[in-house]
Amino acid sequence: DEKLRDLLLAHIHDVPDYPKPGVMFKDITPLLADAKAFAALTDALAGLCERYGATKVVGLEARGFILGAPAAVRAGLGFVPVRKAGKLPGATLAQAYDLEYGTAEIEMHADAVGAGDRVLVIDDVLATGGTAEASLRLIRRAGAEVAGVAVLMELGFLPGRARLAEALDGAPLEALITV
Ligand code: PRP
Ligand code: MG
Repeated sequence: DEKLRDLLLAHIHDVPDYPKPGVMFKDITPLLADAKAFAALTDALAGLCERYGATKVVGLEARGFILGAPAAVRAGLGFVPVRKAGKLPGATLAQAYDLEYGTAEIEMHADAVGAGDRVLVIDDVLATGGTAEASLRLIRRAGAEVAGVAVLMELGFLPGRARLAEALDGAPLEALITV
């Protein structure tokens, strides 16, 4: 709702020219530092877990961990980290994806989700959609269903939503704020 959006927006700070000239960085650290705003965000994300019938929450390293873990606890669900390559000790599934320059790779423990699971992916920002799209491929390759993707913020001037459409395959993409 509008009250939630205003509360969240009031605690996200614009930092010009970070990490490079011409980029407006959306800094969520003031939101995390405000107990009331962080609790409201956590409640909203936990509500989406319930609305979409999630059985597990996947958080995307690193900022998706900060938002996804408390939401999972609040919703009474387990939390699964999708990590940057080389950080997980067990057998993993890996997925490469394109960045502005070059490629990146993320991994998930192969047995972290599976048949019968409905997984909600949580992250802070949807930009080009590359990270979220790769995470959806990991979830499907592990044999689980995608309950949806929930982000704090969608950058509406980038084609992330369109890029995700195929991997979502009808599952919802919820952004609490679009900037
Ligand atoms: C940022 C952001 C999202 C991702 C969005 O993560 O937190 O995860 O980029 O971009 P995309 O939609 O174009 O994939 P990043 O890896 O830069 O940093 P982090 O480790 O601090 O989350
Ligand atoms: Mg990130």
